[in-house]
Amino acid sequence: MKDFKRYMVTSALPYANGPVHIGHLAGVYIPSDIYVRYLRLRGRDVLWVCGSDEHGVPITLKAKKEGKSPQEVVNKYHEIIKKSFKELGISFDIYHRTSDKLHHETAAGMFKTIYDKNGFIEKTTEQYYDPEAKQFLADRYITGTCPHCGYEKAYGDQCEKCGTSLSATELINPKSTISGAKPELKPTKHWFLPLDEYEAFLRKWILEEHKEWKPNVYGQCKSWIDQGLQPRAVSRDLDWGVPVPVENAKGKVLYVWFDAPIGYISATKALTADWEKYWKDKDTKLVHFIGKDNIVFHCIIFPSMLKAEGSYILPDNVPANEFLNLEGDKISTSRNWAVWLHEYLEEFPGKQDVLRYVLTANAPESKDNDFTWKDFQARNNNELVAVLGNFINRAVVLTNKYFDGKVPERINPNEQDLNVLKEIAEIKQKVETSIENFRFREALKEAMNLARLGNKYLAETEPWKLIKTDEEKVKTILNIALQISASLSIILEPFLPFTSEKTGKILNIDKIAWDNLGNFDLLPSGHQIGKQELLFAKIEDKEIEFQVNKLLATKEQNKEENHEPVKDEVSYEDFMKMDIRSGVILEAEKVAKTKKLLKLKVDTGVDVRTVVSGIAEYFKPEEIIGKQVSLLLNLAPRKIRGILSQGMILMAEDKNGKLYFVAPQDDIKPGAMIK
Ligand code: MF3
Ligand code: ZN
Repeated sequence: MKDFKRYMVTSALPYANGPVHIGHLAGVYIPSDIYVRYLRLRGRDVLWVCGSDEHGVPITLKAKKEGKSPQEVVNKYHEIIKKSFKELGISFDIYHRTSDKLHHETAAGMFKTIYDKNGFIEKTTEQYYDPEAKQFLADRYITGTCPHCGYEKAYGDQCEKCGTSLSATELINPKSTISGAKPELKPTKHWFLPLDEYEAFLRKWILEEHKEWKPNVYGQCKSWIDQGLQPRAVSRDLDWGVPVPVENAKGKVLYVWFDAPIGYISATKALTADWEKYWKDKDTKLVHFIGKDNIVFHCIIFPSMLKAEGSYILPDNVPANEFLNLEGDKISTSRNWAVWLHEYLEEFPGKQDVLRYVLTANAPESKDNDFTWKDFQARNNNELVAVLGNFINRAVVLTNKYFDGKVPERINPNEQDLNVLKEIAEIKQKVETSIENFRFREALKEAMNLARLGNKYLAETEPWKLIKTDEEKVKTILNIALQISASLSIILEPFLPFTSEKTGKILNIDKIAWDNLGNFDLLPSGHQIGKQELLFAKIEDKEIEFQVNKLLATKEQNKEENHEPVKDEVSYEDFMKMDIRSGVILEAEKVAKTKKLLKLKVDTGVDVRTVVSGIAEYFKPEEIIGKQVSLLLNLAPRKIRGILSQGMILMAEDKNGKLYFVAPQDDIKPGAMIK
């Protein structure tokens, strides 16, 4: 490991507009927790900060929806998020928040320093304004069609479908999300960070000097830089945020993406008076853990801000993950398509490590991945219970049974025994390399191989049979099995801290430092171990069914709430081209060999014509004779099953596909114009 004197680790600040879900955990918080726990076990000087991102439009929109003030909203979610992280064993050194006074001062200070160095361009530009709500429409206050992919619900700052970052004026058919009104353009003054001036610096620093960054991160940076960087506004016309700290800036606050990353610095300040060492000394390794939608902000914009300020170090790495899907669908807060951490903790008490395990084993490190409850159950039952739990349990049970819980001696170990012991050091090496390169799935797999090795060793040596004939050999075998168990409690600590602690208790040992891994006598002979205790329990089908049903119910509810999108506008003239009249059905019969079709004879007032209509599943021919209908008369005739259909009966269709006639209420003569 290229050694740095110290480490400064940050994890993306979650928006305090909702609780945390498994996508956040798998993408950011679990990997960073593994990394930091590992560094601590190795005795490194490391600080890890996080906190709530409490500004920006996501917060004010949520406040409006919940009928609360923004401060009330962030207070509520800050507490929920903080508590659930803690319960999952996410071991931040501090979980701070950006509505804190210290943060306001820090962010304003950073702006002021750059401002005083003439690092911003002050510019008046035309921005969208909602004439009804009397407010400028920043970021998510405006939606419209994405000019890149055609998605109709893109936001003013980003299209969530194709991931492109947008500016509001690029949107097609922009609409205010406050009033639905069509926005007007109005001039307003803002401060811009001239990113174009940082292009040469970014090109050299990232594209030449950080070729080791993950391909997804490097690739996104390259494409941003190659497309040409533009000055970017760092202020907004909003009343929630850090006020722009210069004169004549009434009603202007810092753009949330300007203030939020400074939150890492504020959090460090809140943690230690010694914070500058961690942010300004070249011997510090700065690492940002984020999700892929945050790459541009952490690799391009924040470093340019730090560069503009002048006294800070830059990140050494930004290990961004891809996204985790849930049962084949994109996780979505607004559709409630998620597994929420606070709910998981309630529904699976004591099973923190199971979630940590599954989300690491299946982490979206190089591509999007899918979380399924079946996989969750299988990994628990087949890996945690059958491999890890089973191995440690056997070592402990047999030692208690044969040797009163005292670690037996190793007597004349043979080659097989020694090879097993040596393998611990090899696995340690592999886990180190994987973690230091941010490959946590691989690291976990290697660590679990130690438990597999232990299981295999016991299966091959069969101490439970040998005990009758060769007690000395059994002593050696169990000694080794216990050394492996102690090693597991160390090597798994970053991944499964609860299990590691519990194993330590069972073995009756204090926390052992990482560097002791590979030592053959972690447990000296004669050491008294504790009683066996199950580390993992099987997860039953009914627990999984409960979760799956919960998701199915969400799906149903979304269906009910979802309206068909409104079709594109048509002109009055276009509408009037349609000739719709009242008519009466004179004859009806099923079209042979079809399920849905009826052949109708309809009196239109103009003529009697044949119409083929797809209503047979809902109406019997004899029921509808004499029925009044609305008929589109001038639809181009079509041949359906060999019958020429001259027009279309208008029907209403509900969510379940059931059909209803749309017809004049009262008896009128056929031929009345409908318009
Ligand atoms: N709140 C942002 C998000 O959830 C992340 C902010 S990271 C920070 O996407 F660096 F700005 F803090
Ligand atoms: Zn798009």
